[in-house]
Amino acid sequence: MQVKERVLSGMRPTGALHLGHYHGALKNWVRLQSQMECYYFVADWHALTTHYESSEIIEQNVYEMVIDWLAAGLEPEQCTIFLQSRLPEHAELFTLLAMGTPMSWLERVPTYKDQQLQLKDKDLSTYGFLGYPLLQAADILIYKAQYVPVGEDQASHVELTREAARRFNDLYGRRPGDEAATLAALAKLAKEDARYYHSLRKKFQEQGDAVALQKLPGFLAKFEQLSSAEKELLTSHFNGKGRAVLVEPQVLLTQASKLPGLDGRKMSKSYGNAIAMREDKKSIETKVRTMPTDPARVKRSDPGEPERCPVWQFHQVYSDEPTRQWAASGCRSAGIGCLECKQPVIDSILREQQPMLERAEPYVQAPQRVREIVAAGTDRARITAQATMREVRDAMGLNY
Ligand code: TRP
Ligand code: SF4
Repeated sequence: MQVKERVLSGMRPTGALHLGHYHGALKNWVRLQSQMECYYFVADWHALTTHYESSEIIEQNVYEMVIDWLAAGLEPEQCTIFLQSRLPEHAELFTLLAMGTPMSWLERVPTYKDQQLQLKDKDLSTYGFLGYPLLQAADILIYKAQYVPVGEDQASHVELTREAARRFNDLYGRRPGDEAATLAALAKLAKEDARYYHSLRKKFQEQGDAVALQKLPGFLAKFEQLSSAEKELLTSHFNGKGRAVLVEPQVLLTQASKLPGLDGRKMSKSYGNAIAMREDKKSIETKVRTMPTDPARVKRSDPGEPERCPVWQFHQVYSDEPTRQWAASGCRSAGIGCLECKQPVIDSILREQQPMLERAEPYVQAPQRVREIVAAGTDRARITAQATMREVRDAMGLNY
């Protein structure tokens, strides 16, 4: 039995991570690692769906990205960090799920058309790109993860994952001997317990009584004479569904990062408006000093409006209340200049960055250690992935 609830998420290694990734995703990953059993992986195959013509970019970024994760505070002892392409089990599950997945499910995932429009310079009319969300489903289902912390843009992929799991369980969650085994399990119960089970089941199946369904796990938990496989059978007989071989995950929506890019749009390397997590000090100073501000402040004596200024968004993330008040009133009264206003932001970014640089340093010095962390995590992940694949093959009847 899994004790802690399991979390899984991944990122594509297409460039140095920036402060948008840190505030939008990584901080949350770090928080979760002490609360749940966390699996975090480098989605290098997913990166290939868009970068198949420039795979060297991926190669450069796989281990650099893991250093960014470690810099943010992921602890290899607390979470499992691994590399997707070292686990062919993901590809196997993807292939098996693909057999029963209607094309229309993939074609209607919004990111499919959106990304094709946005990345016009790339030919994304590939089979691999269409299959992107199904590969993601395999990533998630193979670990039976209950939670997937991702941004809003990935919610439709988690929804597809749920559909794929449901379909799999409906198709393969029943086996020929199940009925007899269910009866045998029921025969192990005392008469009044069996009668209670039947009455609960009837309430659920005939009247849709949700409370009856909720009572079932607690009721079954009492019986030490039943194996977990037998309890699963009784659950499946109860709710009329196949056994849950694969687990339907839930999305853990990460709040959109409040930190925009330097120009106020979403922070993204491709917009050229990003600050990398491990960017050097000089460059951070220059970038913030040259950030656009409220266009109304042409001269130092022109008052401005913080709401029209991206620097103000940075104050929201990086400054305390007194500093924010100082900035807002100084801006509106032209009491401070924009460079003055930006200085506390620069200081805070550098202060936030300091421990990250310190955590990254040993790995930058000895990149071999990063490889070892990933190799150890991958070995750990493989145990779970292989166990699920045995169940999947078994359920599908592929053990001939
Ligand atoms: N598609 C995700 C992204 O672009 C990366 C990813 C791949 C992922 N497989 C996953 C995220 C499984 C969560 C779970 O951000
Ligand atoms: Fe922006 Fe600050 Fe300048 Fe106002 S004073 S425009 S908030 S940088």
